[in-house]
Amino acid sequence: MDVEGLVSPVAEPQERAFEAGLRPGTLAEFIGQQKVREQLMIMLEGARARARPPDHVLLSGPPGLGKTSLAMIIAREMAVPLRMTSGPAVERAGDLVAILTALAPGEVLFLDEIHRIARPAEELLYAAMEDFRVDVVLGKGPGATAIPLEIAPFTLVGATTRSGLLTGPLRDRFGFTAHMDFYDTNELIDVLVRSAALLGVHITGDGAAEVAGRSRGTPRIANRLLRRVRDYAEVRADGVVTHEVAQAALRVYDVDALGLDRLDRAVLEALVRRFNGGPVGLATLAVAVGEEPDTVEEVAEPFLVRAGLLARTPRGRIATPAAFTHLGLDPVEGLLGRSQVPLPLIDSDD
Ligand SMILES: Nc1ncnc2c1ncn2[C@@H]1O[C@H](COP(=O)(O)OP(=O)(O)OP(=O)(O)O)[C@@H](O)[C@H]1O
Ligand SMILES: [Mg+2]
Repeated sequence: MDVEGLVSPVAEPQERAFEAGLRPGTLAEFIGQQKVREQLMIMLEGARARARPPDHVLLSGPPGLGKTSLAMIIAREMAVPLRMTSGPAVERAGDLVAILTALAPGEVLFLDEIHRIARPAEELLYAAMEDFRVDVVLGKGPGATAIPLEIAPFTLVGATTRSGLLTGPLRDRFGFTAHMDFYDTNELIDVLVRSAALLGVHITGDGAAEVAGRSRGTPRIANRLLRRVRDYAEVRADGVVTHEVAQAALRVYDVDALGLDRLDRAVLEALVRRFNGGPVGLATLAVAVGEEPDTVEEVAEPFLVRAGLLARTPRGRIATPAAFTHLGLDPVEGLLGRSQVPLPLIDSDD
């Protein structure tokens, strides 16, 4: 992975194997998401008591927060097999018929990126989820006949980063929807301490806190930064990830105290220093940092907005007072500079 991708929430292909080794295996091991965890725990226990498969579960939230991990945990807690596929992999309704008719009773079917499933396959899912039935259509046109096929009772676990793109009928067929939220620093510290133990990395409490604070609320990023910091600790220090080692390592990798990388900072610097905090149009801002507008909008801006550093307004992008402070500038001076009208000088002594 290049340094640019260090704080991306999306997993690199070669990262998957590494992540597999760090996945929590049970609900009890799963850190944070208190509410979701408690609700799931009750739901799974109820299903176990009735000896029935649990309701279908929709996991929604940004990348890297633990949706896939939770899906695997659900199967494991129910002691049933897990079948994994994804929306884009189900191209035709027939693909889904093959999967559904092969399910063993009680099995968990994990459908990742469910918002990308093809329409005919989605329609097939309705009856499968509701009545454990698939209607196989034979022939075409007026002579076509639908043959209902019974399938084993199963639990569908759908995951999506874009729940807004799900159709109403599909969303309604889930008995339980879990909204995953970003993790707070303390939870990320727990994630890091756990991962460090699994990887055999020595990390101090304030070393973990330093990495956690730069992980953008995302366990995947925390685990990735941990690997970089571990390398640095082994090569440049005595192997222990202390506060100082974490700071020095993340300076080398251009991840700042808030978890901004080089591009994020370039965008923020341009907005604040070149355009006095804005408002400035996206295209102009992109030219100023030498990037495509799409890159600025899709890669840098979402986190800058979430971190409260940048706002999108009808007149263009503006920097918030926190952005000035983060760059070591006085927000009052900066925000006065934003106005087009000359302002009277303020006596700095009062
Ligand atoms: N609550 C948690 N406790 C410990 N580790 C976690 C937790 N949530 C996620 N992780 C770690 O973060 C990594 C990413 O998690 P996971 O793959 O489950 O995320 P995801 O939501 O499915 O992401 P994507 O949307 O990209 O598919 C995994 O390596 C996992 O070990
Ligand atoms: Mg996933």
